Amino acid sequence: MSERIVTDVLSRPDAQLEVTLRPSAFTEFTGQANVRERLEIAVEAARRRKEPLDHLLLSGPPGLGKTTIANIMARAMSANLRTTSGPTIEKAGDLAGLLTNLEEGDILFIDEIHRLQKTIEEYLYPAMEDFKLDIIIDQGPNARSVRLNLPRFTLIGATTRSGLLSSPLLTRFGMRERLDYYTAEQLQKIVLRAAGILGVAIEDAGAFEIARRSRGTPRIANNVLRRVRDFAEVRHDGRITKPVADAALVMLEIDENGLDEMDKRILETVLVKFNGGPVGVSSLAVAVGEEPDTIEEVYEPYLIMEGYLHRTPQGRVATELAWRRLGLRPPKSQGTLL
Ligand SMILES: Nc1ncnc2c1ncn2[C@@H]1O[C@H](COP(=O)(O)OP(=O)(O)OP(=O)(O)O)[C@@H](O)[C@H]1O
Ligand SMILES: [Mg+2]
Repeated sequence: MSERIVTDVLSRPDAQLEVTLRPSAFTEFTGQANVRERLEIAVEAARRRKEPLDHLLLSGPPGLGKTTIANIMARAMSANLRTTSGPTIEKAGDLAGLLTNLEEGDILFIDEIHRLQKTIEEYLYPAMEDFKLDIIIDQGPNARSVRLNLPRFTLIGATTRSGLLSSPLLTRFGMRERLDYYTAEQLQKIVLRAAGILGVAIEDAGAFEIARRSRGTPRIANNVLRRVRDFAEVRHDGRITKPVADAALVMLEIDENGLDEMDKRILETVLVKFNGGPVGVSSLAVAVGEEPDTIEEVYEPYLIMEGYLHRTPQGRVATELAWRRLGLRPPKSQGTLL
């Protein structure tokens, strides 16, 4: 899910720019301190033993640094990184091709690994565990299974939905790390670093304003920075101060609390159309005109983390904070529940 859409205006990450802003070493990687420490130790230990790394699963919402970490790990291990993604592996033969072309110590990065077909997933089990691949050759009465030896490789899987992974697959990852949303302070550092790389004049307070309204997500912070830079150059003298950042964010329809148009539409729908909920994610998706997956992967985790929504077995329920933020009153019958 590399180009997941958050709002239209933020949805076109400049591919080249993402590459230049992407940290290439752990020393440039801000936040996720615990994850980072565990991964740095794993790299150091593997290097000392001259062994490949254990398989690693990275999960978490889009734009928090999964691909970035895979790249950093490969570089730190001085290993080749081969990149693919779940949906592009259509046949067992595709996977066999990838695996048999690996060299000792290579890292195979499978993005969106939750979208790997079940039948293909099963070929991965022995490959991950014993570095063996069982393939069927020939058809009909001549069909037979051949076992191939694979070089010792490392699989790094990335997913926005680790809950969709089967347990045999999950348990074959020696390391599993979940990335969390970043704090405003961490994002401020990321924005200042990016501004430095882009040569943008920015004040600390301007960077903080962008950081605190970027949904805890580095990719969004970097994209907002570029939009704010445009605004600062066209409407002002190019310098990003707090008032300039604020005016640009208003223009981008990112509100004071960092909610974008779709966040607000979702909350308004739960509150007004469904009376505060509970509402199932598919009904909600139809009502706001968005894919259920996108609601679940992109919007909901942030709205839950910020305390606007609860997930209950009956569906999504708005919290009192949601009613207040949208300047609405909860219906009387719900007053006691909230
Ligand atoms: N910790 C960080 N420090 C600085 N920049 C970061 C950090 N994490 C991510 N970024 C920036 O955010 C961008 C998006 O990160 P990345 O592509 O790694 O996200 P992802 O988790 O793989 O997202 P997706 O699920 O959409 O594939 C990167 O290009 C990089 O510029
Ligand atoms: Mg990615």
